Amino acid sequence: MKYTVVLPAAGSGKRMKAERNKLLLELSGKPIFIYTLEVFDKDPHCEGMWLAVKEEERQLIEDYVKRFGIRKVKGYATGGAERQDSVRAGLELAGQSEIVLVHDAARPFISPVVISELVERASESGAAIAGVPVKDTIKKVREAVITETVDRAALWMIQTPQAFRYELLLEAAHLAQADGFLGTDEAMLVEHMGHPVQIVESTYDNVKMTTPDDLIYGKAILASRLQ
Ligand code: C5P
Repeated sequence: MKYTVVLPAAGSGKRMKAERNKLLLELSGKPIFIYTLEVFDKDPHCEGMWLAVKEEERQLIEDYVKRFGIRKVKGYATGGAERQDSVRAGLELAGQSEIVLVHDAARPFISPVVISELVERASESGAAIAGVPVKDTIKKVREAVITETVDRAALWMIQTPQAFRYELLLEAAHLAQADGFLGTDEAMLVEHMGHPVQIVESTYDNVKMTTPDDLIYGKAILASRLQ
């Protein structure tokens, strides 16, 4: 089944301790976000990508897209102060499609098998997101003292892609904006509307390049894929 994808790419390098947008940092000679775009460019079911970028980085990002031969980028929206604003701008620019995926440009190692499972499940139920079961013991802490050990059997770490029927996500995004509701992912906006969201088991290597040690994992993942 065909789908389109909105990629928020208008973040900063704050937690990466980088001077500029972490997506522009290179992993083995290629900017991080180019690896992400290549996954969708190669997927025959992907009909187009829309990126949300900072206005001042747009030209540089467009130049990279051309230089690395990415064919399916259809447009660039202007990102906002929060990730949620960037995604909404991307969705509005992308326009109607049956299924839309939202995927952090900062997650370059997403599996095509997971993408296809997400699309399938979202077309059946409206909303499906990628995640992995929590591996560690999880505790709540207040002022350096444990207040509770949480039953990890019910806990998942959530990733992107998150896949939705386009109309459902757009409605959820507009409702969240009207309510002043801020979510850390798109699923929260759909949950806020009261619509169920399914989870698809993803892979632990679908890491988000967030802090400097993620670049070390990133290089190791790339090296293991070349073996
Ligand atoms: O900051 P964080 O790692 O959570 O960002 C996740 C993704 O959202 C990144 O790809 C980043 O570029 C994007 N983002 C955005 N607009 C913002 C903040 C983050 O497009 N205002």
